[in-house]
Amino acid sequence: MNENLIKKTAQAMRQAKKVVALTGAGISVESGIPDFRGPSGLWEKFDPMEYATIEAFCSNPRKVWTMLKEMGSLLEKSKPNPAHLALAKLEQMGYLSSVVTQNIDNLHQAAGSKRVIEFHGSGKRLICMICGRMYESQGVKLEPLPPRCSCTGVLKPNFVFFGEPIPWGAHMEAREEAGNCELMLVIGTSAVVSPACDLPVIAKKAGAQIIEVNLEETQLTRNISNWILKGSASRIMQNLLDEVLENKE
Ligand code: APR
Repeated sequence: MNENLIKKTAQAMRQAKKVVALTGAGISVESGIPDFRGPSGLWEKFDPMEYATIEAFCSNPRKVWTMLKEMGSLLEKSKPNPAHLALAKLEQMGYLSSVVTQNIDNLHQAAGSKRVIEFHGSGKRLICMICGRMYESQGVKLEPLPPRCSCTGVLKPNFVFFGEPIPWGAHMEAREEAGNCELMLVIGTSAVVSPACDLPVIAKKAGAQIIEVNLEETQLTRNISNWILKGSASRIMQNLLDEVLENKE
């Protein structure tokens, strides 16, 4: 069944004036980074109410930093997988306008994607909760926890915790991309966290085709998506890239 849908998707991508990808944690699972809500997801191990809200971070930054430090070591070892690489290649060939990602792992940029809209910010930098000074994550020793600024303020990763606003620029840019694309690839997201999960609805309302790439159906599948390419993101995206390359004009 997937073979025909891969061909159908490649054809739709070639015909669309503008294609946008929305990615979630599922695209990075094959790079060794667990997703959040899957069977071995991060929220199986850490209660998001205790580790992922801005209130939790402010009330016990040392505790949250123990989880962040564990995640950080996985991020350091991670490399782009064929799904990230395929999106970068599709952009390079003019078949993809941008990637809107919910991920903070920087793997799209590492794969060579140029237009990446980081909807939930990025793990690349830390920000001081007092003076706002930024530090490159790589250069900050995580001993003792929590890491502190030279002004003694606690440092926080520059990504969005639950209860924090989406970076205004990224939010506007992502809505703009979703509102005027003709096709949106929704890759590796459970589509349960707003406002990211509103983007496929915005695209649909603007007349775009919505095509999911996921191991399983999501709440978009039967209501919003035109079809789902079921399987692992790296295999599906590699096959899709091959199909687009094979028949490019
Ligand atoms: N290939 C394709 N899809 C996959 C793969 C894979 N190898 N592995 C997992 N998936 C799918 C799962 O089926 C699921 O639908 O990826 C999705 C991951 O969903 P979540 O874990 O909920 O991750 P995500 O949708 O990115 O979460 C959104 O929630 O916790 C917050 O801020 C966090 O950005 C995150 C947001």
